[in-house]
Amino acid sequence: LELIILKLGGSVICDKSKPFSIRRRVLRRIANEISKFLKEEPEKKLIIIHGGGSFGHYAVQEYLSLKGILDLEALVNVERIMLELSTTLADYFIDAGIPISILTTHSLVMIDDERELIINTRYIEQFLRMGVVPMMYGDLIISSKGSIKVVSGDTLAWELAYRLKANKLLFATSVDGVYSSKPEFPNAILLNELSLSSMINKVTYSETSVYDVTGGMFRKLIEGIGKIRPSMKVYIFNGLRAGEIYRALKDRPLKGTVIKP
Ligand SMILES: Nc1ncnc2c1ncn2[C@@H]1O[C@H](COP(=O)(O)OP(=O)(O)OP(=O)(O)O)[C@@H](O)[C@H]1O
Ligand SMILES: [Mg+2]
Repeated sequence: LELIILKLGGSVICDKSKPFSIRRRVLRRIANEISKFLKEEPEKKLIIIHGGGSFGHYAVQEYLSLKGILDLEALVNVERIMLELSTTLADYFIDAGIPISILTTHSLVMIDDERELIINTRYIEQFLRMGVVPMMYGDLIISSKGSIKVVSGDTLAWELAYRLKANKLLFATSVDGVYSSKPEFPNAILLNELSLSSMINKVTYSETSVYDVTGGMFRKLIEGIGKIRPSMKVYIFNGLRAGEIYRALKDRPLKGTVIKP
């Protein structure tokens, strides 16, 4: 059975320059695109992961600048804010006929020894078998050493794709793909393909938005090292372009970057 993991960038579902701003028109469109795809190909399994956008990134940044650390107050409030964002997405998706179940990241994922993620994948797989589209997101999680950590939607996407042997990992973001240099530069060229082992340091990356705690495009790529199986296709493409998520699910985005090991 084919498994697809779709990571909806926080930059697609939110305006990352404004705290707590949801792009509702975009959400409605994306919901219809995913729903159309699942109706055409009901045998395909799908997991949706979304980023923190102007919710998680903003709130974590606020706590870090106020207190310098992530404490229990940050934990419960960021968890609450991210669940609120996820619930908003679920409203649009379920109304469009997508059988979404939100699997709150902080109740399913923990960090061991400050590094390795402990994920209850059996639980996720059972939801998939039952025809549910599980949805998870970037969140704050607890570690076995008692600290509180940020887990990005990108990290979850790569980890789940690797552990569940996904056939396709799709990163919808706010730009057309990976550029040779900062995308706002006029001479930046969109790369059709990027090999993580040979190209990652030949690209230059711009600073991430004011509200960003997980490192933007560079971290998105770095975290893929060692996670791409031979049977796995990975695309980064523009989720703000109408129809592009549908086309990417169908394996034919108009533009974008194919990521190779
Ligand atoms: N060389 C580059 N090529 C493409 N994008 C780049 C590059 N350098 C920096 N970027 C920036 O990376 C951003 C995408 O990363 P960002 O983390 O903001 O989005 P996201 O992962 O979709 O959102 P979230 O982290 O909330 O899920 C783009 O807005 C783009 O401007
Ligand atoms: Mg990001």
